[in-house]
Amino acid sequence: MKLITPQAYARSITPGAVTGLPADFRWGVATAAYQIEGAAAEDGRTASIWDTYCRVPGAVVRGENGDVACDHYHRMPEDVQLIADLGVDTYRFSLAWPRIQPGGRGPVNQRGLDFYKRLIDELDAKGVTPWITLYHWDLPQELEDAGGWPARDTAYRFAEYAQLAYDALGDRVTHWTTLNEPWCSAMLGYAYGVQAPGRKDFGQALDAVHHLLLGHGLAARYLRGAAGDRPLELGITLNLGTATPETDSEADLGACRRADGLGRRLYLDPIVYGRYPEDVLDDLAAAGVQLPVQDGDLEAISTPLDVLGVNFYRGTLFSGADESGSPVDAQGRPVTRAVERDLPRTDMGWEIIPSELTEVLLRLEDDYHLPTVITENGAAFADTVAEDGAVHDADRTTYLADHIDAVAAARAQGADVRGYFAWSLMDNFEWSYGYDKRFGIVRVDYATQQRTLKDSAKWYRDTIRLTRNGATQ
Ligand code: FCB
Repeated sequence: MKLITPQAYARSITPGAVTGLPADFRWGVATAAYQIEGAAAEDGRTASIWDTYCRVPGAVVRGENGDVACDHYHRMPEDVQLIADLGVDTYRFSLAWPRIQPGGRGPVNQRGLDFYKRLIDELDAKGVTPWITLYHWDLPQELEDAGGWPARDTAYRFAEYAQLAYDALGDRVTHWTTLNEPWCSAMLGYAYGVQAPGRKDFGQALDAVHHLLLGHGLAARYLRGAAGDRPLELGITLNLGTATPETDSEADLGACRRADGLGRRLYLDPIVYGRYPEDVLDDLAAAGVQLPVQDGDLEAISTPLDVLGVNFYRGTLFSGADESGSPVDAQGRPVTRAVERDLPRTDMGWEIIPSELTEVLLRLEDDYHLPTVITENGAAFADTVAEDGAVHDADRTTYLADHIDAVAAARAQGADVRGYFAWSLMDNFEWSYGYDKRFGIVRVDYATQQRTLKDSAKWYRDTIRLTRNGATQ
């Protein structure tokens, strides 16, 4: 197969107004607590499942961890200044549960909470809107020891933590996301074992799916009630891609149905419509798995939301046959096989097709009718630092430009997309890939903690400014 290198992919792109994005379109940058904060044992923070998982030999590239990360905990004002200088209006960040409620039970840890109060103060002072994610994968280790997300009690613990956080910060912050990418928490964490906590049990992963959704619903219900007359923009963030059949054979269409079912409808249907998709439940039953649903759960899970957060990184081409052409595997189960395409790729090996983002947004508009915000989109590339200290990441700029155009195209075709947040503000701890993969529009030199705006950051800043100025209200 011919692999197009990132260099071949990159074009030279100058900043300009993006046609069709309104003046009130929300522009942001995103991060997550464990990926940037460091200060892992400071001010009362206890271990999360990621602190533990990073210590498992072979789990993370080069055995790296988030102990120091970008040292954001100590450099926060400098980082907020960077955010303000980019001219974005919104900063999406996550709260570390083990900072706010160490151990996942009991009262608030005031020192942990104070960090986020200071962060919100800084953002306010610079006119940047805070957008909080309550859970971006850092479950307190004690809750994992008590069963983790496969245990129903974890949903109640999450709702309690959400309550503590909202009670403390709800008067200052309007934008709240409950969970980031529950598919990753459940499937990568509990079925495939490639993210924390590293279990490999399909049945437990499906228990985790339901309890993550229940936790989301209970938290959403609390926030809705507690907000009262206060403005609240409440949402959840899902990782959403496309499933394209390799051919129109029944087997390939079936593979797409299953991938879409287990990857997307299993989350979207209960959240938006209060029911799990029948075909997915049938597939699960055939695999001997039943979701642990109790009376009233789906009512909580379908608590009305204001916005759906979309994280988009890739779509996938699927075949319903294995390499030898068989539609079933050795155990007699139907085959759902991702097929690699001859496309440019990022440093993660992820295929690049911006039009699939348009496709995702139009599909969400048709099937789920919720306003959307792109809460994450971006790319890792193997950046180099030039002699003059600059990072000429034309590949990343191309990626951002093409995906922002894809958002504008979706809007032009009727999708109610209200914002776009680049992943990520700065290079950071990319989970199992450690510090090897750089997603930032700002470079971090981990030896000195120096931050440098890459060319893509300057392009993003100028494009936002020009788009705002050129937009008609
Ligand atoms: C998403 C995660 C985010 C980051 C990007 C590259 O799945 O939400 O933390 O790792 O991928």
